[in-house]
Amino acid sequence: MTRKTVRIAMNGVTGRMGYRQHLVRSILALREQGGLDLGDGTVLWPEPVLLGRREHALREIAERHGLDHVSTDLDAVLADPGIDIYFDSQVTSAREEALTKAIAAGKHVYTEKPTATGLDGALALARLAHDKGVKHGVVQDKIFLPGLLKLKRLVDGGFFGRILSVRGEFGYWVFEGDWQPAQRPSWNYRAEDGGGIVVDMFPHWEYVLHELFGRVRSVQALATTHIPQRWDEQGKPYDATADDAAYGVFELEGGAIAQINSSWAVRVHRDELVEFQVDGTEGSAVAGLRRCRVQHRSATPRPVWNPDVPATEVFRDQWQEVPDNAEFDNGFKAQWELFLRHVHADAPYHRDLLAGARGVQLAELGLRSSAEGRRIDVPEIVL
Ligand SMILES: NC(=O)c1ccc[n+]([C@@H]2O[C@H](COP(=O)([O-])OP(=O)(O)OC[C@H]3O[C@@H](n4cnc5c(N)ncnc54)[C@H](O)[C@@H]3O)[C@@H](O)[C@H]2O)c1
Repeated sequence: MTRKTVRIAMNGVTGRMGYRQHLVRSILALREQGGLDLGDGTVLWPEPVLLGRREHALREIAERHGLDHVSTDLDAVLADPGIDIYFDSQVTSAREEALTKAIAAGKHVYTEKPTATGLDGALALARLAHDKGVKHGVVQDKIFLPGLLKLKRLVDGGFFGRILSVRGEFGYWVFEGDWQPAQRPSWNYRAEDGGGIVVDMFPHWEYVLHELFGRVRSVQALATTHIPQRWDEQGKPYDATADDAAYGVFELEGGAIAQINSSWAVRVHRDELVEFQVDGTEGSAVAGLRRCRVQHRSATPRPVWNPDVPATEVFRDQWQEVPDNAEFDNGFKAQWELFLRHVHADAPYHRDLLAGARGVQLAELGLRSSAEGRRIDVPEIVL
């Protein structure tokens, strides 16, 4: 076995996603398992360079995990020929500029979504990466959730017959920050800082719908700000200028209709923080983060509407659990592995900056639909 070190500049590791999911649960987890075996006698050994604005915070993380390299100088890191990959999990508004520099410097790039704040910027990134011949990937973690992997298995196995509709319910209560601290960063609630639930969640819904059921052909959305004032990390009140809930209807290629509610102002009366119900002519399924339950046509009860008598059936009991039949790794790590194989072993990879741009496009058109009060076609984008 030869060990090949791959040096990854990780920008934004002091943040929620950058630290927990990407550094600890993905890159450090890969090191704990001895690196990534490429299957050709090579083991990739990821060597992160922690990049950011606050040196003391980076050094603190490096010490906690026994890492050697930190930097606050993006340009210097990008000028270093020893750096193979640039990864970005900064706040959304800082992403496009940093990614542009990294691609221009000839680095392979892997990034959180949304890739940019608008479609033009997202497409420009995809085109630049294509012209420069670098490899590029965008985080699409939801598709790797155990519940959605099981749902995909059902779709691939033809369980549903003709798929009619998809109902998604995502959200939970995010505290305003006054009497209990908010559990999400305050920039998420300020449009001027790249916040908003549409730009955050519609990119996820784009690839989930696209990969499982068909490309989104049109969108009709109503985005709103239910909670107009919140309190930030310092306990200071601020105006919540970004949308914190969005109610969307999506027409899909192949004819299914999807309807997804996304909200940070909803209290959870569900089994999981996101759930999708899929109804098809042959059967239905309800998938969440981890679980997936089905009801086949042959086992569908016959409910009869009669408000004069109390319900005698426990409807949830009429569904059957889909077994795991596999061990599911952390989704972020699974996707890092695919991307590293793409970079170092040329494995095929389609979750790229063009796919990322589709997510940005859906968010942009969703917001336009809401502002104009109409349904909007989603044209297919090309490089
Ligand atoms: N894939 C997912 O499920 C998922 C979930 C949440 C967030 N995200 C995305 O990840 C990115 C980071 O989100 P987060 O929740 O980790 O945010 P966060 O606020 O916790 O972290 C932001 C990071 O960006 C850095 N940063 C750089 N420039 C900054 C600036 N001008 N102002 C403030 N911080 C700056 C911060 O230091 C920090 O390291 C966002 O683009 C978001 O859309 C993805």
